[in-house]
Amino acid sequence: MTKLTLDITMSLDGFIAGHTPRAEQPLGDGGERLHEWMYGLEAFRKRHGQVGGTTNRDAEIIEESLAGTGAVIMGRGMFGGGDGPWDESWKGWWGDEPPFRQPVFVLTHHPREPLVMQGGTTFNFVTDGIGSALEQARSVAAGKNVAVGGGANVVQQYLRAGLLDELQVHVAPLLLGQGVRLFDHLGTDPTELEVIRVVESPAVTHLKYRPVR
Ligand SMILES: NC(=O)c1ccc[n+]([C@@H]2O[C@H](COP(=O)([O-])OP(=O)(O)OC[C@H]3O[C@@H](n4cnc5c(N)ncnc54)[C@H](OP(=O)(O)O)[C@@H]3O)[C@@H](O)[C@H]2O)c1
Repeated sequence: MTKLTLDITMSLDGFIAGHTPRAEQPLGDGGERLHEWMYGLEAFRKRHGQVGGTTNRDAEIIEESLAGTGAVIMGRGMFGGGDGPWDESWKGWWGDEPPFRQPVFVLTHHPREPLVMQGGTTFNFVTDGIGSALEQARSVAAGKNVAVGGGANVVQQYLRAGLLDELQVHVAPLLLGQGVRLFDHLGTDPTELEVIRVVESPAVTHLKYRPVR
């Protein structure tokens, strides 16, 4: 069985977005800084249809995750477009050619027909829960891993259900102070994690864990 993985950037004080994510600032106040470690990397730029960029250990780590992933699951908070029934003109934050380039499953309570975008991304909207999203993602992932892209709410559901096989947290050297906390609402029972890998760079620290079941 392929793995269900998580790849997400977090501030040292535990936030994956700043205060009040909104249309003009999807990552909330100050949250854009979280991903600064990626913007200049060739692996990131290529996915976003840009040329050039740096190759280093951080880029290798992005490449490794991208190469191993065949489908992505995200929450509606990450996809954006506000609450309630869909405004069908909203097609995500990423423009006509999103960087995923593979099937994406968006968890939502509001049904919507799939959105086929340029460059290989299809957004499928899943209203029957995290198990169904995982099953559907696995069925199209061509034998590769399924990655949970975020946000916090969806990550917490997969963690609580014991379905995540690996967590890779990229810790940005930043204290955001407030915002969307990643490891919240997980109950009071400890979750034991096995450390798989720690990679340091001046821009970010990559921590990879496996939940012990
Ligand atoms: N730092 C990073 O690397 C990173 C990565 C990803 C996201 N983010 C940020 O994280 C923030 C979003 O996180 P979030 O925790 O607020 O939201 P989220 O987890 O992306 O989405 C939560 C929403 O998804 C829908 N949903 C979730 N589970 C569902 C289920 N089981 N069944 C049906 N619908 C379900 C619900 O929306 P409806 O009921 O409205 O449909 C719910 O309110 C954004 O600011 C985003 O930019 C950061």
